Amino acid sequence: MATTPTLEIASQPHPAPTPDADRVAAIADPGFGQTFTDHMVTIDYDEGKGWHSAQLCARAPLALDPAASVLHYAQEIFEGMKAYKMEDGAMALFRPDRNAQRFNESARRLAMPELPEDLFIEAIRQSVLADRDWFPTVDGGSLYIRPFMIATEPFLGVRPARQYKFITFLTAVGGYFKAGAPAVSIWVSNDYTRAAPGGTGAAKCGGNYAASLVPLGEGMAKGHDQVVFLDAVERKWIEELGGMNLFYVFDDGSMITPPLSGTILPGITRDSLITLAREEGLDVREERYSIDQWEADATSGRLMETFACGTAAVVTPVGHVAGEGIGFDIGSGGPGQLTTNLREKLVAIQRGKAEDRHGWVMRLD
Ligand code: PLP
Ligand code: COI
Repeated sequence: MATTPTLEIASQPHPAPTPDADRVAAIADPGFGQTFTDHMVTIDYDEGKGWHSAQLCARAPLALDPAASVLHYAQEIFEGMKAYKMEDGAMALFRPDRNAQRFNESARRLAMPELPEDLFIEAIRQSVLADRDWFPTVDGGSLYIRPFMIATEPFLGVRPARQYKFITFLTAVGGYFKAGAPAVSIWVSNDYTRAAPGGTGAAKCGGNYAASLVPLGEGMAKGHDQVVFLDAVERKWIEELGGMNLFYVFDDGSMITPPLSGTILPGITRDSLITLAREEGLDVREERYSIDQWEADATSGRLMETFACGTAAVVTPVGHVAGEGIGFDIGSGGPGQLTTNLREKLVAIQRGKAEDRHGWVMRLD
């Protein structure tokens, strides 16, 4: 670490960590988001006192007052990041400064206190190093990091809370989507939107995901993997998936991704791929793209590829799109050339197999 964190994190390692044999079995094929490691870092906040009582401790259930604001008015924000293992065995994070910044942008939107960026990163660094033995052995595995903040003050009046808790914990993960599928199928939500102008669409708050669950459930019941949302005003511009940004690749080699209009999450993968694609000389435009145009271009063959991107999903091809009165395939229905190429470039940087020209990789040891 280049800087000294603003608050010392007291270390209270787990008194009885998971036995080796159980851990090794758990990380062989962990799936996504269900295999949790032994430790977490917690930091408390009180108005007037600031952040205090930072500790690395055994991962355990929380004791919350039933009146804690988060349980009633949903003052909650989170981040999603991964720790990667480099070629030489070192652990590394990818652009953690961007997650720290976005966490604070979300905090401002949800009227929550900001956490100093160096403390955010140090908490993650210590938790990853404490549980590095949980790194999954499955191909493409990583430690998925989930930092979050909740309002803990017991108070039922509606105003920003005066007490908060920051926690970061880890899960050993493989791929987000089921293995073996060549591409994902997505469902266009007709009746529901995710975010409106002036709302919380650009913040990473739990409420956005709660609002996505009915349309996601509709799509899943019909056999699709994710839901795609249209804008809330005209119901025509494609915004993003419930948990990923989208890119469209055309037959002239150019690419479009929806602009950061305030209603979509400013993805760090999205930003990194724009940079990498432009370095390749590709014309990447941040431009609105309508659902009708998407269907017309996929049908005419002008659109060659579509892919979703995010920390959990990395870069995932979209092969089929369905909705009420909508149904079309994209390209061959499998991974396209540019999608594969960009995914490989990104993963190679994240895992230390390609030069890190932008200083995106932070080695932890
Ligand atoms: N959009 C939404 C709604 C997300 O939940 C995510 C995942 O974090 C993304 C986009 C992609 O963001 P990132 O690339 O920073 O993980
Ligand atoms: C991530 O990609 O980190 C997310 O938070 C998205 C979620 C669907 C897991």
